[in-house]
Amino acid sequence: MSWNRRLPAIRGKAYFASCSQGPLSQDVMKAIKRYEDSILRWGNPWDEWMEEVYKASDIFADIVGAGRDEVCPHYSASSALISLLSAFKPDKRDKIVTTDLDYPTVGVTLAGMKRMGFDVVTLRSREGCIGLEQYEEAVDERTLMVAVFHVSALNGFRQDIKAISEICRRKGAYLLVDAYQSVGAVPIDVDRMGIDFLVAGTTKFLLGIPGAGFLYARREHAEGLEPTAVSWFSQKDPFLFGREEMDFRDGAKRFEMGTWSVVSMYAAAAGMSIIKSLGVTSIWEKIIRSRDYLRDRLVEEGFELYSPPDQTLGPTISLYVGEKAHRLEAYLKRRRVIASARGPGLRFAHHFFNTRDDCERAVEALSRAVKRLP
Ligand SMILES: Cc1ncc(COP(=O)(O)O)c(C=O)c1O
Repeated sequence: MSWNRRLPAIRGKAYFASCSQGPLSQDVMKAIKRYEDSILRWGNPWDEWMEEVYKASDIFADIVGAGRDEVCPHYSASSALISLLSAFKPDKRDKIVTTDLDYPTVGVTLAGMKRMGFDVVTLRSREGCIGLEQYEEAVDERTLMVAVFHVSALNGFRQDIKAISEICRRKGAYLLVDAYQSVGAVPIDVDRMGIDFLVAGTTKFLLGIPGAGFLYARREHAEGLEPTAVSWFSQKDPFLFGREEMDFRDGAKRFEMGTWSVVSMYAAAAGMSIIKSLGVTSIWEKIIRSRDYLRDRLVEEGFELYSPPDQTLGPTISLYVGEKAHRLEAYLKRRRVIASARGPGLRFAHHFFNTRDDCERAVEALSRAVKRLP
């Protein structure tokens, strides 16, 4: 089956918006239908639903190279992050380091942590990227955690997570990675990259729908952590009424909260199964070819990049278009080229299904747009 058939959302389009919402697949549509059928048939088939939730959690674990006990299902990257951070109190280590290229999920959650007494240090980007020397300078014996993106949602810059992790190790700080803009597109191996904690949702390169996210917590850390932003599913016996003491589940599952968005987990499992069966390494090879082809063509046509030109990038390149970004997005959409505006940039996210033809359609539509849009 061709991808045009299996991904109805890309039919007749040059689809470059996986950094916003991955295209809906027939696999996901069928999974949603299975959820609907399960309600119509059984009313409340909780055992079947729980199986699907943990199936999704296990596939996510496989995709990031984690043990299945090290991953916990959540509702969004935000909820996973909040649950994790609730396990920490400021003491000798009261500093958390982040960056201004991080998605507001991280920045705003950490602003909340300031009220808990944490000192949050935000590294300021220079020419669209954060240098390793900035981490060297900022991370010290007071640093509890470095909480940073793998690929920036703003400009596509991809950080060297292994190198950041080595800095964290030397200074005794944890490394938490927001991998929402890379997972499913860029290979991730939590062990090899030295990641302690990772959060992501499934709507983007994992091809799911809103309402599903995951937290990875390294086994040796998870067992010692006692989160406060938790609920009945974080307990060994979720149905115990009148509880006065916490009795956490083993491993990362202690970070669960209440009832899941089950339909989102059906969709997540189906979307991630496509990614797993293709293999992220081979997806990434295709992405690099398509991304670099478009980048070279845009430069050739005289467009200015918002993505840092000489830095490592993830699957997305962003074009500098200033305040026209949203109007340009709408103009291209009418020509069936689907891109995504963010800040002063127009983002073109590449995935395994993108072709050179898609790139040429984008270049052509952009060339017309600059002549027509004031
Ligand atoms: C890097 C990154 N982190 C987090 C989010 C949002 O996560 P959530 O809404 O699941 O908390 C996004 C969404 O665009 C993102 O790109």
